[in-house]
Amino acid sequence: MTDAIQVERERGLLTLRLNRPDKKNALTRAMYSRLAEALKQADSDPEINAVLITGSAECFTAGNDIADFVQQPPSDLDSPVFHFMLNLLECRKPVIAAVAGAAVGIGTTLLLHCDLVYVSRDARLRMPFVNLGLCPEFGSSLILPRLLGQAKAAELLLLGEGFNGEQAAAWGIATQALPSGEAAFAKAREMALRFDKLPPEAVRISKQLMKAPDRDLLRKVVEEEGKLFVQRLRSPEAIAALMGFINRG
Ligand code: COA
Repeated sequence: MTDAIQVERERGLLTLRLNRPDKKNALTRAMYSRLAEALKQADSDPEINAVLITGSAECFTAGNDIADFVQQPPSDLDSPVFHFMLNLLECRKPVIAAVAGAAVGIGTTLLLHCDLVYVSRDARLRMPFVNLGLCPEFGSSLILPRLLGQAKAAELLLLGEGFNGEQAAAWGIATQALPSGEAAFAKAREMALRFDKLPPEAVRISKQLMKAPDRDLLRKVVEEEGKLFVQRLRSPEAIAALMGFINRG
């Protein structure tokens, strides 16, 4: 348990708030475990109609905690980060994200699995996997080329180019870009609470239909990426890049 993940309940909405401001909400193993557990509980609790994942109005998340990557790298698919990924992939309830500030690494790739994504216009999204000697994860190597075309996806995944909330919305990574982090959160909360007024079984079946065509393929890709990612973490290229971040002046 950690209060770096705050779990709040409002009617049928469960909000999971990343709350580690001193480290830009970088995600530790304990945080992934808490998120995985909360998603599972939400999925099986008939009183919960939607889940909202958010950070603060200044920062969504700086991605995986880099010190954790060095000290306790995930060794296989039975690791907290993969439990989180699989529980998000398999969540039958609608998952909504509200994003402001930095959304790095898994902070961007997790959005590809949310049903609705509201971002601040100036949110800063980035997937610097290659820059860190790593490789794409969480299905991004499948989803982004399909969504954006190979040429644009390569810019984001091979070069690690950053983009903002407005671009994320224009490209279909986000539902809508709003003027501020507060506005993005307010919109996300408003839309998430709408599920209280909709018939839950119809929502569940509709989400299932939307996800079904790619379900098995996506899971296979997430596992393949995960195995390579775990190997890459031990590579000299990754160790040099991660130590470079830790030892930066
Ligand atoms: N893991 C661990 N610590 C992190 C972190 C991460 N992913 N991202 C930020 N932090 C820590 C910094 O080390 C710093 O800690 P310190 O104050 O003890 O030195 C603190 O959070 C603030 O970070 P800082 O870089 O000073 O904030 P910023 O506003 O200038 O920049 C980011 C924010 C997110 C753009 C920048 O921190 C960053 O690029 N982080 C790394 C992101 C990343 O590569 N993630 C992994 C993807 S796989």
